[in-house]
Amino acid sequence: MNWNKWIREIHRWLSIAFTVAVIVNIVALGREAPPVWVSFLALPPLALLLFTGLYLFVLPYSTRWRAGRRAD
Ligand code: HEM
Repeated sequence: MNWNKWIREIHRWLSIAFTVAVIVNIVALGREAPPVWVSFLALPPLALLLFTGLYLFVLPYSTRWRAGRRAD
């Protein structure tokens, strides 16, 4: 499996971790005194989603750019 596929796979599984963290947050909000750390639970996966997501976004453009340069 190449590097790009790994990033896509990591992004996919991080999205599940983020979704679970959001659900845990919503459930915690229903309690009387939700612990503070619960509100920070979703931030690490979200931060990693941002970087892997930006990588995935740039990927088709960089591939095209490199292909164009080779053709010159
Ligand atoms: C935080 C900023 C994020 C950025 C910049 C971002 C960006 C992207 C990009 C560019 C793709 C690839 C689209 C394509 O060309 O096929 C992608 C795929 C995807 N994103 Fe994100 N994303 C972000 C956050 C999220 C979040 C919060 C979720 C869900 C909780 C999510 C779930 C997914 C899934 C499931 C895919 C498809 C992965 C696959 O192809 O297997 N992303 N994202």
